[in-house]
Amino acid sequence: MIEVRHLRKNFGGKPAVQDVSFTVAEGENLILLGTSGCGKTTTLRMINRLLEPDGGEVFFRGTNTRDLQPEMLRRQMGYVLQQTGLFPHYTVEENIAVVPKLEQWDKQRIHERTDTLLTKLGLSRDTHAHMFPHELSGGQQQRVGLARALAANPPVLLMDEPFGALDPVTRHRIRKEFAELDEFREKTIIMVTHDIQDAFALGDRICLMDKGKIVQLGTPEELRDQPVNEFVSNFLKGQYEPQ
Ligand SMILES: Nc1ncnc2c1ncn2[C@@H]1O[C@H](COP(=O)(O)OP(=O)(O)OP(=O)(O)O)[C@@H](O)[C@H]1O
Ligand SMILES: [Mg+2]
Repeated sequence: MIEVRHLRKNFGGKPAVQDVSFTVAEGENLILLGTSGCGKTTTLRMINRLLEPDGGEVFFRGTNTRDLQPEMLRRQMGYVLQQTGLFPHYTVEENIAVVPKLEQWDKQRIHERTDTLLTKLGLSRDTHAHMFPHELSGGQQQRVGLARALAANPPVLLMDEPFGALDPVTRHRIRKEFAELDEFREKTIIMVTHDIQDAFALGDRICLMDKGKIVQLGTPEELRDQPVNEFVSNFLKGQYEPQ
Protein backbone atom coordinates (compact mmCIF):
# COMPACT_ATOMS: atom_id res chain seq x y z
CA MET A 1 0.00 0.00 0.00
CA ILE A 2 2.75 2.44 1.02
CA GLU A 3 6.42 1.97 0.30
CA VAL A 4 9.08 4.33 1.59
CA ARG A 5 12.51 3.99 -0.05
CA HIS A 6 15.69 5.56 1.27
CA LEU A 7 14.06 8.77 2.50
CA ARG A 8 16.38 11.57 3.55
CA LYS A 9 15.79 15.06 4.88
CA ASN A 10 18.24 17.65 6.20
CA PHE A 11 17.42 20.86 7.98
CA GLY A 12 20.14 23.50 7.84
CA GLY A 13 22.70 20.88 6.90
CA LYS A 14 21.77 18.65 9.85
CA PRO A 15 20.24 15.29 8.99
CA ALA A 16 16.72 14.80 10.44
CA VAL A 17 15.94 11.61 8.50
CA GLN A 18 18.64 9.38 7.03
CA ASP A 19 17.96 6.49 4.66
CA VAL A 20 14.60 5.39 6.05
CA SER A 21 12.87 2.54 4.17
CA PHE A 22 9.79 0.48 5.03
CA THR A 23 6.61 -0.85 3.51
CA VAL A 24 3.13 -0.85 4.99
CA ALA A 25 0.64 -3.43 3.77
CA GLU A 26 -3.04 -2.71 3.21
CA GLY A 27 -4.84 -2.70 6.56
CA GLU A 28 -1.62 -2.78 8.56
CA ASN A 29 -0.82 -0.50 11.51
CA LEU A 30 2.79 0.59 11.57
CA ILE A 31 4.04 2.54 14.56
CA LEU A 32 6.93 4.99 14.24
CA LEU A 33 8.40 4.95 17.72
CA GLY A 34 11.30 6.91 19.14
CA THR A 35 12.49 9.73 21.35
CA SER A 36 11.86 13.40 20.72
CA GLY A 37 13.67 14.72 17.66
CA CYS A 38 14.48 11.33 16.09
CA GLY A 39 12.65 12.21 12.85
CA LYS A 40 9.19 10.67 13.28
CA THR A 41 7.12 13.72 12.29
CA THR A 42 9.53 14.55 9.45
CA THR A 43 9.12 11.02 8.06
CA LEU A 44 5.32 11.21 8.31
CA ARG A 45 5.19 14.60 6.60
CA MET A 46 7.20 13.30 3.66
CA ILE A 47 4.67 10.51 3.13
CA ASN A 48 1.79 12.87 2.31
CA ARG A 49 4.09 15.49 0.74
CA LEU A 50 3.60 18.16 3.37
CA LEU A 51 7.38 18.08 3.13
CA GLU A 52 9.48 17.20 0.07
CA PRO A 53 12.36 14.78 0.75
CA ASP A 54 15.97 15.60 -0.11
CA GLY A 55 16.39 12.05 -1.28
CA GLY A 56 14.44 8.83 -1.66
CA GLU A 57 10.93 8.05 -2.78
CA VAL A 58 7.48 7.19 -1.53
CA PHE A 59 5.13 4.92 -3.45
CA PHE A 60 1.38 4.86 -2.81
CA ARG A 61 -0.41 1.89 -4.36
CA GLY A 62 2.56 1.44 -6.69
CA THR A 63 2.69 5.05 -7.93
CA ASN A 64 5.57 7.34 -7.06
CA THR A 65 3.97 10.13 -5.01
CA ARG A 66 6.08 12.63 -6.95
CA ASP A 67 3.76 11.90 -9.87
CA LEU A 68 0.61 12.58 -7.84
CA GLN A 69 -0.88 15.96 -7.02
CA PRO A 70 -0.19 16.67 -3.34
CA GLU A 71 -3.84 17.67 -2.73
CA MET A 72 -5.16 14.45 -4.25
CA LEU A 73 -2.63 12.41 -2.27
CA ARG A 74 -3.63 14.09 1.00
CA ARG A 75 -7.29 13.32 0.46
CA GLN A 76 -6.34 9.65 0.43
CA MET A 77 -4.48 10.05 3.71
CA GLY A 78 -6.36 11.46 6.70
CA TYR A 79 -3.87 13.30 8.89
CA VAL A 80 -4.16 13.61 12.66
CA LEU A 81 -1.72 16.29 13.73
CA GLN A 82 0.49 16.42 16.77
CA GLN A 83 -1.40 18.92 19.06
CA THR A 84 -4.67 18.35 17.12
CA GLY A 85 -4.23 21.31 14.73
CA LEU A 86 -7.95 22.14 14.78
CA PHE A 87 -8.98 25.43 13.20
CA PRO A 88 -9.67 27.65 16.22
CA HIS A 89 -12.37 29.75 14.53
CA TYR A 90 -14.29 26.78 13.17
CA THR A 91 -16.83 24.92 15.29
CA VAL A 92 -16.43 21.21 15.93
CA GLU A 93 -18.81 20.46 13.09
CA GLU A 94 -17.02 22.79 10.68
CA ASN A 95 -13.67 21.29 11.60
CA ILE A 96 -14.93 17.79 10.86
CA ALA A 97 -16.47 18.91 7.56
CA VAL A 98 -13.33 20.45 6.05
CA VAL A 99 -12.47 17.64 3.59
CA PRO A 100 -16.10 16.71 2.69
CA LYS A 101 -16.61 20.40 1.79
CA LEU A 102 -13.48 20.38 -0.37
CA GLU A 103 -14.95 17.33 -2.05
CA GLN A 104 -18.20 19.28 -2.52
CA TRP A 105 -20.47 16.90 -0.69
CA ASP A 106 -24.03 18.24 -0.33
CA LYS A 107 -25.16 19.65 3.01
CA GLN A 108 -27.31 16.69 3.97
CA ARG A 109 -24.51 14.19 3.38
CA ILE A 110 -22.08 16.30 5.42
CA HIS A 111 -24.60 16.60 8.23
CA GLU A 112 -25.17 12.85 8.34
CA ARG A 113 -21.46 12.06 8.22
CA THR A 114 -20.70 14.54 11.00
CA ASP A 115 -23.46 12.99 13.12
CA THR A 116 -22.11 9.49 12.58
CA LEU A 117 -18.60 10.53 13.56
CA LEU A 118 -19.66 12.53 16.60
CA THR A 119 -21.58 9.51 17.89
CA LYS A 120 -18.80 7.07 17.04
CA LEU A 121 -16.30 9.16 18.97
CA GLY A 122 -18.46 9.72 22.03
CA LEU A 123 -19.42 13.33 21.33
CA SER A 124 -22.95 14.65 20.92
CA ARG A 125 -24.47 16.94 18.31
CA ASP A 126 -26.46 18.88 20.90
CA THR A 127 -23.56 19.49 23.23
CA HIS A 128 -20.43 19.59 21.11
CA ALA A 129 -21.14 20.24 17.42
CA HIS A 130 -21.33 24.01 17.80
CA MET A 131 -18.51 24.44 20.29
CA PHE A 132 -15.14 25.88 19.35
CA PRO A 133 -11.94 23.89 20.01
CA HIS A 134 -10.90 26.02 23.00
CA GLU A 135 -14.18 25.10 24.73
CA LEU A 136 -13.30 21.39 24.62
CA SER A 137 -11.11 19.31 26.89
CA GLY A 138 -7.84 17.94 25.51
CA GLY A 139 -9.39 14.49 25.06
CA GLN A 140 -12.39 15.93 23.23
CA GLN A 141 -10.10 17.92 20.94
CA GLN A 142 -8.19 14.74 20.10
CA ARG A 143 -11.48 13.04 19.22
CA VAL A 144 -12.45 15.89 16.91
CA GLY A 145 -9.01 15.73 15.27
CA LEU A 146 -9.61 12.04 14.64
CA ALA A 147 -13.16 12.66 13.36
CA ARG A 148 -11.80 15.26 10.94
CA ALA A 149 -9.20 12.83 9.61
CA LEU A 150 -11.86 10.13 9.15
CA ALA A 151 -14.52 12.41 7.65
CA ALA A 152 -14.14 11.56 3.97
CA ASN A 153 -13.28 7.94 4.74
CA PRO A 154 -9.71 7.89 3.38
CA PRO A 155 -8.03 4.47 3.03
CA VAL A 156 -4.95 5.67 4.94
CA LEU A 157 -4.57 7.43 8.29
CA LEU A 158 -1.37 9.20 9.27
CA MET A 159 -1.43 9.95 12.97
CA ASP A 160 1.14 12.06 14.77
CA GLU A 161 1.00 11.54 18.53
CA PRO A 162 -2.81 11.29 18.42
CA PHE A 163 -2.95 10.74 22.18
CA GLY A 164 -0.23 13.22 23.04
CA ALA A 165 -1.01 15.94 25.55
CA LEU A 166 -3.42 13.68 27.46
CA ASP A 167 -3.08 12.58 31.06
CA PRO A 168 -2.27 8.86 31.38
CA VAL A 169 -5.81 7.81 32.39
CA THR A 170 -7.52 9.63 29.51
CA ARG A 171 -4.81 8.46 27.16
CA HIS A 172 -5.43 4.87 28.11
CA ARG A 173 -9.20 5.24 27.67
CA ILE A 174 -9.04 6.97 24.29
CA ARG A 175 -6.44 4.50 23.01
CA LYS A 176 -8.75 1.65 23.98
CA GLU A 177 -11.76 3.28 22.32
CA PHE A 178 -9.73 3.90 19.20
CA ALA A 179 -8.57 0.27 19.06
CA GLU A 180 -12.22 -0.82 19.10
CA LEU A 181 -13.25 1.30 16.09
CA ASP A 182 -13.88 -0.51 12.79
CA GLU A 183 -11.72 2.14 11.13
CA PHE A 184 -8.76 1.11 13.23
CA ARG A 185 -9.02 -2.45 11.98
CA GLU A 186 -9.81 -1.63 8.37
CA LYS A 187 -7.55 1.26 7.48
CA THR A 188 -3.87 1.35 6.71
CA ILE A 189 -2.37 3.38 9.54
CA ILE A 190 1.02 4.91 10.20
CA MET A 191 1.09 6.26 13.74
CA VAL A 192 3.82 8.25 15.40
CA THR A 193 4.34 7.94 19.12
CA HIS A 194 7.08 8.09 21.73
CA ASP A 195 4.91 5.96 24.04
CA ILE A 196 5.86 2.29 24.30
CA GLN A 197 2.40 1.30 25.55
CA ASP A 198 0.74 2.94 22.53
CA ALA A 199 3.14 1.08 20.29
CA PHE A 200 2.53 -2.32 21.86
CA ALA A 201 -1.23 -1.86 22.14
CA LEU A 202 -1.82 -0.62 18.60
CA GLY A 203 1.02 -1.75 16.33
CA ASP A 204 1.07 -4.72 13.98
CA ARG A 205 4.69 -3.73 13.51
CA ILE A 206 6.88 -1.17 15.20
CA CYS A 207 9.60 0.88 13.55
CA LEU A 208 11.93 2.06 16.31
CA MET A 209 13.97 5.10 15.26
CA ASP A 210 16.92 6.95 16.72
CA LYS A 211 18.76 9.97 15.30
CA GLY A 212 16.93 9.85 11.98
CA LYS A 213 17.55 6.15 11.35
CA ILE A 214 15.61 2.93 11.82
CA VAL A 215 17.17 0.86 14.59
CA GLN A 216 14.74 -2.08 14.41
CA LEU A 217 11.55 -2.81 12.51
CA GLY A 218 9.44 -5.79 13.50
CA THR A 219 6.42 -7.05 15.37
CA PRO A 220 6.08 -6.03 19.02
CA GLU A 221 7.09 -9.58 19.98
CA GLU A 222 10.20 -9.47 17.81
CA LEU A 223 11.35 -6.21 19.39
CA ARG A 224 10.65 -7.54 22.86
CA ASP A 225 12.14 -11.02 22.40
CA GLN A 226 14.88 -10.33 19.85
CA PRO A 227 16.11 -6.77 20.33
CA VAL A 228 18.93 -6.09 17.86
CA ASN A 229 20.99 -4.10 20.36
CA GLU A 230 21.05 -2.50 23.78
CA PHE A 231 19.37 0.65 22.58
CA VAL A 232 16.26 -1.36 21.70
CA SER A 233 16.13 -3.32 24.94
CA ASN A 234 16.76 -0.21 27.04
CA PHE A 235 14.19 1.79 25.11
CA LEU A 236 11.55 -0.88 25.64
CA LYS A 237 12.36 -0.96 29.35
CA GLY A 238 11.84 2.80 29.40
CA GLN A 239 15.48 3.26 30.35
CA TYR A 240 16.61 5.31 27.41
CA GLU A 241 18.64 8.34 28.51
CA PRO A 242 18.62 11.12 25.90
CA GLN A 243 22.12 12.45 25.23
N1 LIG B 1 10.98 22.77 9.90
C1 LIG B 1 12.14 22.47 10.51
N2 LIG B 1 13.20 23.28 10.45
C2 LIG B 1 14.37 22.96 11.03
N3 LIG B 1 14.58 21.81 11.73
C3 LIG B 1 13.56 20.97 11.82
C4 LIG B 1 12.27 21.24 11.24
N4 LIG B 1 11.45 20.20 11.50
C5 LIG B 1 12.17 19.33 12.24
N5 LIG B 1 13.43 19.78 12.44
C6 LIG B 1 14.50 19.07 13.17
O1 LIG B 1 14.57 17.75 12.66
C7 LIG B 1 14.73 16.80 13.70
C8 LIG B 1 13.60 15.80 13.68
O2 LIG B 1 12.39 16.47 13.99
P1 LIG B 1 10.98 15.72 14.06
O3 LIG B 1 9.95 16.76 14.24
O4 LIG B 1 10.86 14.84 12.88
O5 LIG B 1 11.15 14.84 15.37
P2 LIG B 1 10.09 13.91 16.11
O6 LIG B 1 10.70 12.55 16.16
O7 LIG B 1 8.75 14.06 15.52
O8 LIG B 1 10.13 14.51 17.62
P3 LIG B 1 8.93 14.76 18.68
O9 LIG B 1 8.69 13.43 19.33
O10 LIG B 1 9.53 15.76 19.62
O11 LIG B 1 7.74 15.29 17.95
C9 LIG B 1 14.83 17.62 14.99
O12 LIG B 1 16.17 17.79 15.30
C10 LIG B 1 14.18 18.93 14.63
O13 LIG B 1 14.73 19.99 15.37
MG1 LIG C 1 7.01 14.92 16.22
